[in-house]
Amino acid sequence: MADGITLEDVKAREDIQTYLGRADRNMEAIGYTEHGFRHADLVARRARSIMEELGRDPREAELAAIAGYLHDIGNVAAREEHGQVAVMLAYSVLKEMGMPPAELADLMAGVGNHEEAYGDPFGPVAAAVIIADKSDVARSRVRDMHPSRYDEHDRVNYATMSSSLTVNHERTMISLRLEIDTQIAPIMEYFELFLTRMVMTRRAAQVLACEFELVINGTKLL
Ligand SMILES: [Fe+2]
Ligand SMILES: [Fe+2]
Repeated sequence: MADGITLEDVKAREDIQTYLGRADRNMEAIGYTEHGFRHADLVARRARSIMEELGRDPREAELAAIAGYLHDIGNVAAREEHGQVAVMLAYSVLKEMGMPPAELADLMAGVGNHEEAYGDPFGPVAAAVIIADKSDVARSRVRDMHPSRYDEHDRVNYATMSSSLTVNHERTMISLRLEIDTQIAPIMEYFELFLTRMVMTRRAAQVLACEFELVINGTKLL
């Protein structure tokens, strides 16, 4: 199916823009890393590109991009269970826009499973969102360099100079490559903090019939 609601249609909505902006303000208020438009755009872009590079159906790639864009919108209400609130918000907006039930089902699974505590990669859309979300480690996510507010997540994010997510030519391996300034955060610190995310990412990659590898400063760690 070529037609259907696109990410551009979703981004053009005032309600979505308002909720996402407010969600990020809430995260800022409790000292969390950036969870706003930059993160939403990056997760949408990476989720779409994983699907495209794996040669999957274009409509499925569009749904992954929409789910990626909306996955953290539930922070508008509360941090706790924000994935489930995001499901509710995404469902009501997209249903109003006329999205058919089978697409809504993929969308809800994609939005509602991105959290480490309970997320399961229920299908390719959910898997792509998980991999894209967990790959976003970046200096630009850190808001406040003041040492009193600076936690270990901030330090690891701040130490990350660049990240890239790629699919190999044979479509069998998804790689997350990070360049980390080890003066700021040792690689072990990254590994300790993000191990559960990487395990979740590996499970998601399996749903896409791929292996997952983590390469930090040129060394394969996982
Ligand atoms: Fe989240
Ligand atoms: Fe996220």
